[in-house]
Amino acid sequence: MKALVLAGGSGTRLRPITHTSAKQLVPVANKPILFYGLEQIREAGITDVGIIVGDTQDEIEAAVGDGSALGISATYLRQDAPRGLAHAVLTAADWLGDEDFVMFLGDNLIEGGIGHLVEAFERDRPDAQVLLKSVGDPTRFGVADLDGEGAVVGLVEKPADPPSDLALVGVYLFTSAILDAARRIEPSGRGELEITDAIQRLLDDGRRVHASTIDGWWLDTGKKDDLLEANRIVLGSVRRRVEGEVDERSELVGEVVVEPGARILGSTVRGPAVIGARTRIEDAFVGPFTSVAPDCVVERCEVEFSVLLERCVVRDVSRLEGSLLGRDARVVRTERRPAAHRLMLGDHSSVEIS
Ligand code: TTP
Repeated sequence: MKALVLAGGSGTRLRPITHTSAKQLVPVANKPILFYGLEQIREAGITDVGIIVGDTQDEIEAAVGDGSALGISATYLRQDAPRGLAHAVLTAADWLGDEDFVMFLGDNLIEGGIGHLVEAFERDRPDAQVLLKSVGDPTRFGVADLDGEGAVVGLVEKPADPPSDLALVGVYLFTSAILDAARRIEPSGRGELEITDAIQRLLDDGRRVHASTIDGWWLDTGKKDDLLEANRIVLGSVRRRVEGEVDERSELVGEVVVEPGARILGSTVRGPAVIGARTRIEDAFVGPFTSVAPDCVVERCEVEFSVLLERCVVRDVSRLEGSLLGRDARVVRTERRPAAHRLMLGDHSSVEIS
């Protein structure tokens, strides 16, 4: 069995972060989202991993390399443009050959790994196996229609009138029958080759499509609030590890990770929180569910329920909450006159001032 991991796409919903970098590399608890999926694939015993990449290929390759650090062997498959999940499958057709494979969306996080799914697929060997999760707002997702026995009878992408509340989670198992099905579909209204249409084609052909549901959490990190939620949940399982410096005026409360070279000076960090290598937290309060990446400065301010990427500076700001700061972002107070907010924001940035 092989794995196909989708790390292309355009990431419009996570702009401006994704103007300059791949959304699959945005960190959750200071580890790129993509790595969680790759680790779960390896834990399921799959090491032959094809990674679909687009414009951000160089960055993804720089992070994953040949995959050996993660215990996998990575092959990069370039998709000419984000033309849909089924198009990504077709892009990988030669590499996949006639092997079974698990397809994993590189911006999805699921609880508990995929080992049991792979086992169920290998035991029953349907033509496709989808994973479903009951959600509050199914109109944002691919949605499954099940019959009385729980068999999949139909699939629709982002339906205005959903047939159920069961969304398709970004992990699928396929035999090579999906390739033939994907070749026989047309682009959808949004111009993409939809994986839901390809699976629907399997159903129309009388092929077997199994579904299982997950009770644990599933996070599609496409948007800021989803990403903060993913960070909150993943931080919930970190354990205290202090390898940096914490001076005697500082206090760490609960599960706090202080990476090597980080300095906590005259500050309180209330976990769960992760403070990246070489970051300085000084005269500050870092509250629960916050991940601060390496090489940041957080000084004379309070930051809570937020994700800061590498080299951010936050200084003399009374309180930041529910915030996602991209690399090298600066949020600082100044004494300059006239007293005013001076902003330099990238396209699609969003600032809320209280
Ligand atoms: P999506 O989140 O559905 O699409 P997107 O990345 O284009 O994001 P947005 O809607 O914000 O513009 O994609 C799910 C995953 O699959 C994500 O990791 C990107 C990847 N992907 C591809 O690799 N190729 C594609 O053609 C598409 C549509 C997505």
